[in-house]
Amino acid sequence: MEYKTIIVRIEEGIATLTLNRPEVLNALNDQVFNELADAASEMAADPTVRVVIITGGEKVFAAGADISQMATATAVEVMTSDKPSHRAFHLIETMPKPVIAAIAGYALGGGCELTLVADIRIAAENAQFGLPEIKLGILPGAGGTQRLPRLIGPGRAKELIFGGDFIKAEEALRIGLVNKVVPTNQLFEEAKKMAKRLCDRGAVALRLAKSAVNEGLRMDLEAGLQYEDKCFNLLFATEDQKEGMRAFLEKRPAKFQGR
Ligand code: CAA
Repeated sequence: MEYKTIIVRIEEGIATLTLNRPEVLNALNDQVFNELADAASEMAADPTVRVVIITGGEKVFAAGADISQMATATAVEVMTSDKPSHRAFHLIETMPKPVIAAIAGYALGGGCELTLVADIRIAAENAQFGLPEIKLGILPGAGGTQRLPRLIGPGRAKELIFGGDFIKAEEALRIGLVNKVVPTNQLFEEAKKMAKRLCDRGAVALRLAKSAVNEGLRMDLEAGLQYEDKCFNLLFATEDQKEGMRAFLEKRPAKFQGR
C-alpha cells in the first residue's frame, strides 16, 4: 500500500510507522488516521511482522489532531463523521502483536492519545505530554478521558485533562504514563532493542497475553480470571508451548515458530 502522511518500514520482523507531517508538527488529520488504520490492518495481517513501533521521529511525536480541520466544524458534522481517529486507534489497540510507541518531543492531544493505544511507551528525555484540548474549549475525544484514567488513575488523569498543561518525560515516568525514559539520541535504538526482545517470544502466546490484559480490563475480576484461564488453556495446544518447556528442561533458548 502507498502512504503519504506516514512512512512504513519493515525490517527483521519489526514494522516502524513514522508520522510524517513535520511542517505541522505531525498534526493528525483524517488522512493520517486513515493511513494509520490501513497500516495497522496491513501489519496485523503480515505474518513477517512480529512487533510494531509507532514514532514521529526525533523532534516531535504529534502535536495533536489537526486544529485547522476542526476549527469550523459544526456539532452535526462532528457527530456524523465516521471518526477515522477512532477506527485507527481501535485497530492499533487490538492489533494481535505488541505495539511500542517511541516518543520524542511533543505528544499532545490526539498525539498523546495515540501513545495510549500502544502497549508500551518509551519516551525520549525531550518528550512532553499533555491533553491541551480544554484550552481549545473541547475535551480529549480520541480516548483520552477513558484510556488515561485506566492507565494512571482518575486523579492524575483529571489533573492533566482539566489543566491542559504539559508534563516532561520524567514526570510522565513518575506517574506511570510511560514505561521508560531514555536519552533522546538513543530512542530508536532502545525501541528496537525492546522490539527485538519481543520478536524472540512466541507470537501466539504474545497475542493471547495481550488479549488477556486488554479484554480483562473491560471485565470484572472474576470474568477476567475466567478469560485468562481460557487463554492459558488454549496455549497448551501450541507447538510453542511444547518447545518453550522442552527448551527450559534441556537448558537451551527456545525457538518459537508462532504456532
Ligand atoms: N493542528 C494543526 N496545526 C498545528 C498543530 C495542530 N494540532 N500543532 C501545531 N501546528 C502547526 C502550527 O499551526 C504551525 O504552523 P505554521 O508554521 O503554518 O504557523 C506549525 O505547526 C508549528 O507550530 P508552532 O509554530 O505553534 O510551534 P511552537 O514550537 O511555537 O509550539 C506547540 C509548539 C506548543 C506544540 C504548539 O504548536 C501547540 O500548542 N499546538 C497545538 C497543541 C494542541 O492544542 N493539541 C490538541 C489538538 S486537539 C485534539 O487533539 C483533539 C482530540 O482529542 C482528538
